[in-house]
Amino acid sequence: MKILRLMERGSKILGSKYSILGGAMTWISEANLVSSMSNAGIFGILASGAMDGNLLKIEIKSTQEKTRNNFGVNIILMNPKLHDLIEICGEEKVSHIVLAGGIPDKAIIDKIHSFGMQVMTFAPALSIAKRLFKLGIDSLILEGSEAGGHVGPLSTMILIQDILLNMDGYPIFIAGGILRGEIVASLLRLGAVGCQLGTVFACCKESIAHDNFKKALLKASGRNAITPVQLDKKFPVAPVRALENIGTKEFIEKQREILVKFTNGEVDLDNGRLSLEHFWAGSLRRAVQEGDIDRGSLMSGQIVELVKEERSIKEIIDTLLAEAERFL
Ligand SMILES: Cc1cc2nc3c(=O)[nH]c(=O)nc-3n(C[C@H](O)[C@H](O)[C@H](O)COP(=O)(O)O)c2cc1C
Repeated sequence: MKILRLMERGSKILGSKYSILGGAMTWISEANLVSSMSNAGIFGILASGAMDGNLLKIEIKSTQEKTRNNFGVNIILMNPKLHDLIEICGEEKVSHIVLAGGIPDKAIIDKIHSFGMQVMTFAPALSIAKRLFKLGIDSLILEGSEAGGHVGPLSTMILIQDILLNMDGYPIFIAGGILRGEIVASLLRLGAVGCQLGTVFACCKESIAHDNFKKALLKASGRNAITPVQLDKKFPVAPVRALENIGTKEFIEKQREILVKFTNGEVDLDNGRLSLEHFWAGSLRRAVQEGDIDRGSLMSGQIVELVKEERSIKEIIDTLLAEAERFL
């Protein structure tokens, strides 16, 4: 197959049959889904979210019991247990760590390498991408703002032109708004080594996400997957792409309420910001595990526009590969 030849470089980096990454999704990318991804020939990534070392260890061991293939672990740089988590991954012989939620420094990259693991991470701009490779990362993921979850300001199309096309030969994966094989094949031809998909796997048969969560995504159109409005720069709002629901409307009201209180001197800047941060605490878990689609966070990318049925991982990958092959 022509597409497999184009995927060769990425597959070698990942140690998987196909150079497709199953993007980490907090509360969703657990042992069952990740092992099913890796068994299907793509590269599953466990989401460690706010886990501590003990929980992560259990999840890694459980994944390893279900697959002998490679998988990665996604670690959020802000996690206060960052160093513990890296050590657990090293002890458990995880092959790749995907660092998210910031720009890693050299000490972290070196620490991961000291266990023989590869470092993958994200970059929002060309200068940062170049710096990260100088610091020693093994590969990069460019994730555009179409993606589900926490996003940067630039779309996949801009990142491709600004970074991928200016970094010939570097191992770069592309994420955000990708589903069809024709696009995957085109990106590989442009020099990418593979692609990362998230939202479509949140809704797949093997995903343990609550039925309400999956149905809400399958029913949604791309225009429902929005990042929240920020009413005032003094009270910054994290750009998290999710489906509009009662919660997103109440969040605007909450900002309005805090702004009024701040103007009247009833709340200071720090406490106002803190109460906004707390608004969404635990909300992804409520949506994914409890099925609260009204006030939980329905994180998903604009690609929900194209995700209309619950398919197995194999069906998703077979379709993608067939589309890519036909196109090539
Ligand atoms: C529900 C959900 C949770 C996510 N959680 C994380 C996370 O914990 N860490 C991370 O690096 N990316 C996270 N992402 C981003 C995905 O890993 C992936 O990069 C993204 O979904 C790809 O874009 P797509 O949604 O257009 O396919 C999440 C995405 C979704 C939809």
